[in-house]
Amino acid sequence: MSVHKQQDIKKKVTTHQLQEMKKRGEKIAMLTAYDYSMAKIIDGAGVDVILVGDSASNVMAGNETTLPITLDQMIYHATSVVKAVKRALVVVDIPFGHYQGSSGEALRSSIRIMKESGAHAVKLEGGHEVKDSVLRILSAGVPVMGHLGLTPQSIYKFGTYSVRAKEEAEANQLLDDAHLLQECGCFGLVLEKIPAELAKKVAAALTIPVIGIGAGAEVDGQVLVMQDMLGITQEFKPRFLRRYADLHNVITGAVTTYVGDVKRKAFPSKEEGY
Ligand code: KIV
Repeated sequence: MSVHKQQDIKKKVTTHQLQEMKKRGEKIAMLTAYDYSMAKIIDGAGVDVILVGDSASNVMAGNETTLPITLDQMIYHATSVVKAVKRALVVVDIPFGHYQGSSGEALRSSIRIMKESGAHAVKLEGGHEVKDSVLRILSAGVPVMGHLGLTPQSIYKFGTYSVRAKEEAEANQLLDDAHLLQECGCFGLVLEKIPAELAKKVAAALTIPVIGIGAGAEVDGQVLVMQDMLGITQEFKPRFLRRYADLHNVITGAVTTYVGDVKRKAFPSKEEGY
C-alpha cells in the first residue's frame, strides 16, 4: 500500500466527507459495534461509519426487541466503542423513549450521549413525527442521522419485521419524510427493509448519503449488524443478510478444543507456565 493511501486511511471520517463520498459515487461501509475490542478490529479494517445501534438490546443484552435498552446502557456501549476508534465516524442510536416525548428531552439525551461517550453523531427513527426533536438536536450542533422504513422501535405498531413501504401511500410518505429530514439538516439517512426501487428513488432524490439495510444496492452505502454478518447470530436469516464469516462455528470449535485440553490436562504445557 502506498504512503498516500495509508495517510488517507488514518484520516478521520467526518459527516462532510460522507457527503463528498456520495458526490464521488464512492460507497459508504457502515457496521454496528458495541464494545472496545470489536470496534478496534472493524475500525482498523477500514469501515467508514460505526453505528452503536440499539440493536445492542438484541445482540448484547438478549432482549427480543430494541425497546428495553436504556440511555445509560447506550452511553456505556458508545463510550467503549469511541475509545477504540481512530478513523470511523461513530453514530449512536438514541434509544426508545428518550426523544419521542419532547424536543427538550431529545436534546438532553443527545447532549448526554455526546458529552459522556465522545461520539460524533446521533441517530433516531421516524420522519415528520420527530421533526421538532431533529431540529432541536441540530440547533445544539449535534449531527443527526435519520432512519426510515422498518423502524424497530415501532415494532409493536407494525406487528411484524416484514418489508415496509410496499404500498404507494406508505412509499410516498417515506419519500416526503426523507426530504423533510434532509431539509431539517440531517447529514445522512438509514433506510431499512424497503423495496430496492423505492430506496434507489430516495437516494437519487437526496443530496445526503442514504445507507441501506435490506434496501438494495442502488443507495450510497450499506449497514449490517456485526454479529449477523460475522455469523455469530444463528437464528436471524433475512434475505438481505450476507454472512462474511462463520464465527459461531469458529468459536464453538476453539472453545470445544480448549475444554478438551483442560480436561485431559493438555493445557497448559510446561512452556506455558512460569
Ligand atoms: O440498531 C441498529 O443496529 C440499526 C441498524 C439496523 C441500522 O439501527
